[in-house]
Amino acid sequence: MSSPFIAILGTGAHSPAKVLTNHDLARLVDTTDEWIVTRTGIRERHIAGKNETTSQMAAAAARAALADAGVSAEQVDLIILATLTPDQPMPATACLVQHLLGVPARAACFDLNAACSGFLYALDTAWAMLGSGRYKHALVIGAEKMSSLVDWTDRSTCVLFGDGAGAAVLGPARGTAQILGARLYAEGAHAHLLCVPRGPKPVIQMKGREIFKNAVREMEDATREILEQHGLTAAQISCVIPHQANLRIIESLGQYLGLPPERFVVNLDRHGNTSAASIPLALDEARRSGRVRAGDTTLLVAFGAGLTYGSALVRW
Ligand code: UT7
Repeated sequence: MSSPFIAILGTGAHSPAKVLTNHDLARLVDTTDEWIVTRTGIRERHIAGKNETTSQMAAAAARAALADAGVSAEQVDLIILATLTPDQPMPATACLVQHLLGVPARAACFDLNAACSGFLYALDTAWAMLGSGRYKHALVIGAEKMSSLVDWTDRSTCVLFGDGAGAAVLGPARGTAQILGARLYAEGAHAHLLCVPRGPKPVIQMKGREIFKNAVREMEDATREILEQHGLTAAQISCVIPHQANLRIIESLGQYLGLPPERFVVNLDRHGNTSAASIPLALDEARRSGRVRAGDTTLLVAFGAGLTYGSALVRW
């Protein structure tokens, strides 16, 4: 069912000041800048300081998105924060963000964990809640402190991840901009391929090659299905904002869809994989650099632990 009158009114992003380069990592583990760039496309990532929290990064991105949208904190009545790195198990980090922003008590605030697909899960949930007419302005945020879950002795994973936050304000459409559709999926049978098992010091464990293969197939399926649902061809998509995990995954997706590399927004060279923050960070950069123009149709497409995956179509 579509909710045709809801749009993304503004976006914002925040990255911690500290930058960790591949050369820095080569001093920590047995790796090289050349290996990381060739196998992933990543050159550097932002890393939060010890006292820098997911809620602080989320609030900074949300403030920027509210300013961009021209919506005040008082007008927000829904906050959905996609994260797998909450400040604490409870309360929900969304409530801490609410407090930091001064969003009124009548707002509903909750966290959502769909790993790297989290922003799309949050977007679709907010779209449905706003479409019901019971909420008017939503903050949809993806924020992660992945550095807190990384095993800094495991070269096969520690080179991949980064910290940051991105946010979007959803509200009543102005003009022709609107969210056209979203489609979410999950394959729990593959949960073991990428997980953080419980333990004294929980860290990310990943079967990289299997994840890689699933990622390309799932993003292709999610793209084809949503395009078909909306009677669109890939050629009609002016810009694709994919989850930023690995440049080779994005290039393979482009080849399968028959889309040239310049159609894809890529910022993983500077951010690495920021999980739920990855799509909103790239979306904000794309909008601010003029890659998303009024009337354009943009495809957002993600995959992640779960395995979850999904797609969304947004008209500007
Ligand atoms: O949001 C979802 C998150 N996850 C992903 O998207 C991950 C998807 N997978 C990938 O991006 C890739 O599988 C990786 C980048 C993780 C790994 O690339 P790969 O081409 O699949 O390499 P591999 O795991 O098959 O490893 C190839 C070799 C191995 O050495 P041997 O066994 O061939 O001697 C690894 O030990 O590369 C070695 N290796 C490294 N070498 C230098 C693994 N990590 C590193 C490293 N530096 N950082």
